[in-house]
Amino acid sequence: MAKRSFKRPDGEPQLVSVSLPWDPEREVPPDMLAFLGRADALLQKYWDSWYRRPIEQYVACDFRDVWRALEALETNRLAPGKLFCEWGCGFGVVTAMASMLGWDAIGIEAEEFLVDEARKWLRSERIDAEIWHGNFLPTGSERLAKRQANHASLFHQVPNAYSEHDLGIDDFAVVFAYPWPGEDYFLKDVFRNYAADQSLLLLFLGPYEIELYRKADMVD
Ligand SMILES: C[S@@+](CC[C@H](N)C(=O)[O-])C[C@H]1O[C@@H](n2cnc3c(N)ncnc32)[C@H](O)[C@@H]1O
Repeated sequence: MAKRSFKRPDGEPQLVSVSLPWDPEREVPPDMLAFLGRADALLQKYWDSWYRRPIEQYVACDFRDVWRALEALETNRLAPGKLFCEWGCGFGVVTAMASMLGWDAIGIEAEEFLVDEARKWLRSERIDAEIWHGNFLPTGSERLAKRQANHASLFHQVPNAYSEHDLGIDDFAVVFAYPWPGEDYFLKDVFRNYAADQSLLLLFLGPYEIELYRKADMVD
């Protein structure tokens, strides 16, 4: 059988867009709905006192749609493994949903306040997922920002979260992120350069805008 090379002609690995059959009408199961109701309440409490702890970069994705996407990913067995990472996890809601769907889930967050809140909340919900304080960008990856050095994710002066835990981006089977507008190209480039062959990048880009990519090295 002829082998297909997924490498670009210049020898670099690439990201292949994967069609994800997620259904925006899919009913969210009652236990997940109840869980997300509690997540909404936690976030509302934060928004109500936002002025006391303003974190400019925190915006939540649509948790219900991301649940639908994660469930489709799981049902269709698209992931090459069980280790899941949320880049910039905020209160850890997506990390928690991934854990509830059976992944070994880790959320990385630069803002200490959000790390503390996420850890507290996961404990109170008895969810077995980890929240790491640190930078989800691997050291040196800022060079990939090239034309635009003012991406929101570049503002965090905290060391990368991986080294302390003896893991790298290439240990994860699935990475989820909700990037700031215009930053998705940078995060895709970081993933393309550092992730493992065949691992998946799931991006929430706005209402109904969910994209999935697979990293593809040469298949030889
Ligand atoms: C748009 S919010 C998304 C929050 C959550 N993922 C969600 O979808 O609800 C982006 C989060 O990423 C965090 N963040 C941004 N850049 C980061 C970096 N380089 N390392 C770690 N966390 C970062 C921000 O503090 C913020 O909480």
